[in-house]
Amino acid sequence: MKLTLAISKGRLQADALALLQRAGLRLPSDSLSTRRLAVEDESGRYRLIFVKPTDVAVYVEHGVADCGIVGRDVLLESEPDLLQPLALNIGLCRIVVAARNETVWNQFGMLRVATKYPRIAARHYGARGVAVDLIELSGSVELAPVLGLADCIVDLVETGRTLSENGLCIVEVIAESSARLVVNRASYQLKAEAIGQLIRSVDEASKRS
Ligand code: PRP
Repeated sequence: MKLTLAISKGRLQADALALLQRAGLRLPSDSLSTRRLAVEDESGRYRLIFVKPTDVAVYVEHGVADCGIVGRDVLLESEPDLLQPLALNIGLCRIVVAARNETVWNQFGMLRVATKYPRIAARHYGARGVAVDLIELSGSVELAPVLGLADCIVDLVETGRTLSENGLCIVEVIAESSARLVVNRASYQLKAEAIGQLIRSVDEASKRS
């Protein structure tokens, strides 16, 4: 029974493919460089589709993909209805509040927070009863405090290089993140054997690395 796996394009892609190869999938040698958005492994048991990180959850939730590999940051933001049987040790990063100084405040009124994670940011400040003005951006978020669009950002930090090269520092850590193997609820029942086998082999490969 063939399984379709949705893989995040971008920063996670190389590590996710390497992990699947260690788990026994025999992928085409050009899997990382190809512009094809779907490839099959040599056994014909797996089809991989490459989609934007936020879309991995959409494909898996709708059952177009049976499983996926996606960062916890994306799952915390979109809260999709799917199973998360495995935390993987790839894609390690943190979701943080960052600003130009360690003390963030706005002397004129409401704190302005720029982010591409509006729900994570809203939950974070909502839990503290702090009213904020959320400014939703789709990338290069670090520019916002530098140019005065926002007082701080809620964003992902991996190496810390983007923050330091733009003169920002971490004010607080909201959550630790790593990649997750996610599974469609119906597929988990209907393709139990194939998915169980995939989970076991990915788990073993992830622990070995
Ligand atoms: C992410 C994140 C930071 C950067 C952090 O952006 O939003 O900007 O990576 O990585 P670092 O700590 O290793 O420097 P991404 O590269 O996904 O691009 P984007 O700004 O276009 O969203």
